[in-house]
Amino acid sequence: MSKIHVTTTVNGDRMEFLAEPRETLLDALRNHLDLTGTKEGCGTGDCGACSVTVDGTLVCSCLMLAAEANGKRVETIEGMAGADLHPLQRNFIEHAALQCGFCTPGMIMAAESLLRGNPRPDRDQIKAALAGNLCRCTGYV
Ligand code: FES
Ligand code: FES
Repeated sequence: MSKIHVTTTVNGDRMEFLAEPRETLLDALRNHLDLTGTKEGCGTGDCGACSVTVDGTLVCSCLMLAAEANGKRVETIEGMAGADLHPLQRNFIEHAALQCGFCTPGMIMAAESLLRGNPRPDRDQIKAALAGNLCRCTGYV
């Protein structure tokens, strides 16, 4: 089957690559663009480890085809930090909120997505927003 030419903006940079028709956005980010901060935990949309935003909406990149990102704007964990850490990343560290290397990127992407729409969420809203990010080792609190 022939490959699909995908042009997308990732973390502000225009990117082009050839994707297999059934290749996920997650695999494309990791394998074509070397953006390995986005993790595969389950591959079935259950854990949130692969969370990225596409045109500002939080998605599980394991459930989205790379071809569907054509013409869209993708943000990954690599795009969070500028010259310095993003305030969320700094606060995850300062408040020992960091999970393992699999969970943290997805949690931060989900938290950023929450705060963009609701800068002052209460505890229940935070819990609801992060409910799709599963930890397999009990490090939630
Ligand atoms: Fe996508 Fe788990 S790897 S939700
Ligand atoms: Fe990642 Fe628990 S902190 S699995």
